[in-house]
Amino acid sequence: MNYRHIYHAGNFADVFKHIMLVALVQSLLRKDNGFCFLDTHAGIGFYDLLSSQAQKGKEFMGGIAKINTQEKLPPLVADYLACVKKLNATTPEKLQCYPGSPLLVKQLLRPQDRMVLTELHEDDYLVLKRVFPHDKQVGVHHQDGYLALKAFLPPKERRGLVLIDPPYEKPDELSDLVTALANAVTRWETGIFALWYPIKESRSIARFHRALKLKIARPLLAIELTIFPDNQATQLNGNGMIIVNPPWQFEQEIQAVLPWLWRVLSPHQEGRYGIQLL
Ligand SMILES: C[S@@+](CC[C@H](N)C(=O)[O-])C[C@H]1O[C@@H](n2cnc3c(N)ncnc32)[C@H](O)[C@@H]1O
Repeated sequence: MNYRHIYHAGNFADVFKHIMLVALVQSLLRKDNGFCFLDTHAGIGFYDLLSSQAQKGKEFMGGIAKINTQEKLPPLVADYLACVKKLNATTPEKLQCYPGSPLLVKQLLRPQDRMVLTELHEDDYLVLKRVFPHDKQVGVHHQDGYLALKAFLPPKERRGLVLIDPPYEKPDELSDLVTALANAVTRWETGIFALWYPIKESRSIARFHRALKLKIARPLLAIELTIFPDNQATQLNGNGMIIVNPPWQFEQEIQAVLPWLWRVLSPHQEGRYGIQLL
């Protein structure tokens, strides 16, 4: 486990992923009854953009820093940026901290909602636990995210969202994920699942989509945004999110922000964006 998210915090992929996350949580907030958010690969929850690790590649400059300089934001992006800015209340113009998925979602929860976070890296787990001290609404577990899909599903609330955001350190992680996601959906057929994936070259992604469609008999959306041509397997050219059981009007909502996001995030206006019903 060498992956450390601090090097990538706030980059274009985090921006894409976290905007989807805000939209999904907002859809759950439309009903009064409580929901459960399970984050299987939670990270440390909070990232210091001035740290030496974040400053090394300055990846946030190609992500959240670009969003923060735009004048007219689509409403969903404005909601996301508001969550980021809450963490930077003393320096809103120059962002110094970036929230990971747990802290982003925590800001949106109501008293009746609940959050379960699992993180396998021991140091990261200890940091994450300190972000939510004595918080009864948040369960933080030092646990494997794949096991969490078995241990915590279905939640007692019977409504909610699962974010699966692995580091993709293993070469066969995509095919393991298809099986893990299919089993999780069998355990909880009506849950919303969001699975983030990197895009280097498009052929392996087409195989991944076919496998998902074959194994999961629920509505499946693949939302993708690439910022470079996706024909070289050597670099992160873009990313995507699989949504199982997308909420009502989610597709239209995302459709409305994708062109804007691509224009802002793609440095040379290369790559592509789109939504596919698998
Ligand atoms: C991409 S980061 C998560 C970022 C976070 N979801 C966010 O959006 O802010 C992936 C995290 O998964 C952790 N991790 C790696 N393997 C894991 C596993 N099998 N189970 C749970 N966590 C794992 C890594 O330590 C890392 O913190």
